[in-house]
Amino acid sequence: MNPLLLRGVRPYGEGEPVDVLVRDGVIAELAATIDAATIDADDVQVVDGNGAVLLPGFVDLHTHLREPGREDTETIATGSAAAALGGYTAVFAMANTDPVADNAVVVEHVARRGREVGLADVHPVGAVTVGLKGEKLAELGTMAKVGVRVFSDDGHCVHDPLLMRRALEYSRALDAVIAQHAEEPRLTVGAQAHEGENAARLGLQGWPASAEESIVARDCLLALHAEARLHVCHVSTSGTADVLRWAKARGTRVSAEVTPHHLLLDDSRLATYDPVNKVNPPLRAESDVLALRAALADGSIDCVATDHAPHAVQDKDCEWSAARPGMLGLQTALSVVAETMVATGLLDWRGVARVMSERPAEIGGLADQGRPIAVGEPANLALVDPDARWTVRGADFASIAANTPFEGMELPAAVVATVLRGRVTALSGRIQP
Ligand code: DOR
Ligand code: ZN
Repeated sequence: MNPLLLRGVRPYGEGEPVDVLVRDGVIAELAATIDAATIDADDVQVVDGNGAVLLPGFVDLHTHLREPGREDTETIATGSAAAALGGYTAVFAMANTDPVADNAVVVEHVARRGREVGLADVHPVGAVTVGLKGEKLAELGTMAKVGVRVFSDDGHCVHDPLLMRRALEYSRALDAVIAQHAEEPRLTVGAQAHEGENAARLGLQGWPASAEESIVARDCLLALHAEARLHVCHVSTSGTADVLRWAKARGTRVSAEVTPHHLLLDDSRLATYDPVNKVNPPLRAESDVLALRAALADGSIDCVATDHAPHAVQDKDCEWSAARPGMLGLQTALSVVAETMVATGLLDWRGVARVMSERPAEIGGLADQGRPIAVGEPANLALVDPDARWTVRGADFASIAANTPFEGMELPAAVVATVLRGRVTALSGRIQP
């Protein structure tokens, strides 16, 4: 592999621009100026940063790649391309595929396809229960043996407290984490949208905040007593943030994520009646959105995860109650975080590195991602133009599906380049061969 010279970049957006030389997948030199002519190699790939912000490559703990089973909406190849274009160098592929990733054969298949595609590290998430049915624990130990460190029934809640307790106990022994989709199912029967005025006006059955908060509170206590690691998926209410504060203050080994869409959109979106806005958990009240931003800024919520959920046109372009929940996220995450957290002064770029790369890498147990930008460290990087503005067009995304709720919005900041172990995977909005 040829050396790579990133010229005129600002690590974490701090200080004067520097040059960064990458050799054999590792950051080899970092200096005010590095002369390409002095590098002992025939071909040096030079990327001009023009003062862009250099961050560790992003890590997504929550991606639906839909392969195997729904390759009409996304594949590991198209999802990996979307990840690379979004600045991601690693993604965790959720287990709600068909067949479900509840055994070593399926998770190994996903990991192998990810390696073949090679645009981002694809880490399969293993299901907690067989077939996501919530009845019987899946073979967590066998999946852990082939490298799985995150288990989740995402899309479904592991609602049986005994099963959840057992899962946490096993995960502790396996040095793994249980990522819970917190939704007490008896409180969300028929639920279509956030329980509040907007849903009531449209006659949509409400999804109460307590359905999430009661499970998070319960699971925090189960994890505390089991001394196990719990990760809370897509936190959507201010009450959940409070529960997390309470649990963390008591030493619970709990981490949590928030999605870009819950940081930007609220349930006033329901007025359009457009199912592109249907997602689980639902878009909440404006007061929740502001509380989630504050919780991400103060560390009560650890990180951003996309919950990238591609859906076919026929599953979204239909009446609200028949539409599937979920929205795309990989190619808009950075810009939505820039809009909601950086432009508002809640996070600086070092903070963005923490919530989009460092913390997710730690939670997912990745030793070579989310590392400092320093000599000797693996070159997994995202180069971001903080001054760019662009208009979202779902049809232009690498994903097969186009269900973005941000369609037509003008957003700040753009990913200029993504580097995976020294190889440029995306440059100026194009995948690099
Ligand atoms: O909106 C969602 N979509 N939430 C989930 O938990 C699952 C996901 C999906 O798989 O489409
Ligand atoms: Zn979920």
